[in-house]
Amino acid sequence: MPKLLHLQVACAENRVIGRDGRLPWRIPEDLKFFHDQTAGQIVVLGRVCFETWPRVLQDGRRPVVVSRNAALASDQVRVATSLSEALAIAESLPGEIHICGGQRIYAETLALGRPMRLHLTLVHADVPGDTFFPEWRHLAWRELDRRDSADANYRYTFYTLEWVP
Ligand SMILES: NC(=O)c1ccc[n+]([C@@H]2O[C@H](COP(=O)([O-])OP(=O)(O)OC[C@H]3O[C@@H](n4cnc5c(N)ncnc54)[C@H](OP(=O)(O)O)[C@@H]3O)[C@@H](O)[C@H]2O)c1
Repeated sequence: MPKLLHLQVACAENRVIGRDGRLPWRIPEDLKFFHDQTAGQIVVLGRVCFETWPRVLQDGRRPVVVSRNAALASDQVRVATSLSEALAIAESLPGEIHICGGQRIYAETLALGRPMRLHLTLVHADVPGDTFFPEWRHLAWRELDRRDSADANYRYTFYTLEWVP
């Protein structure tokens, strides 16, 4: 049986997730949550996410990068040319599979029709940006957990949602 897919995303109310290749906010509590969730696990991610995540190779993470650039591969890094190839590699490794974006990786994952758990930090603001999380609210998610929080700049909610087709 294929593994459950964990999607990790922090998204504004207008579905923005990124700007100029970076996160459009700095929310330390969310960053810590993201790092804790993915430590020791397989992280499937696009090339830009890989190149801009300073801690991707720390804390026992095993990245599977989706890219045409095979030269990114190393002892620690697997490279795949498509999401399906990345998931096949991820299935062969021990640990949970965490899908960490970006936009196209999320869209293709949501379209797979596989059981998935969405670890969503919904930032309660409309934020300017150029990268988006696809619309997810049309799927019949079951809410497993929800926690409201805030810092000096943003209010946000940590959701754990599960969808079984
Ligand atoms: N808020 C959040 O939770 C969150 C999460 C993730 C990302 N982000 C933000 O989103 C932005 C990065 O995401 P992005 O969507 O621009 O880029 P990305 O997906 O990280 O990287 C894009 C590149 O990855 C490869 N790629 C991605 N999907 C592919 C697919 N389905 N098949 C084949 N190749 C694929 C291609 O690499 P090659 O060109 O090398 O072939 C493509 O040029 C940043 O601003 C980042 O901070 C935010």
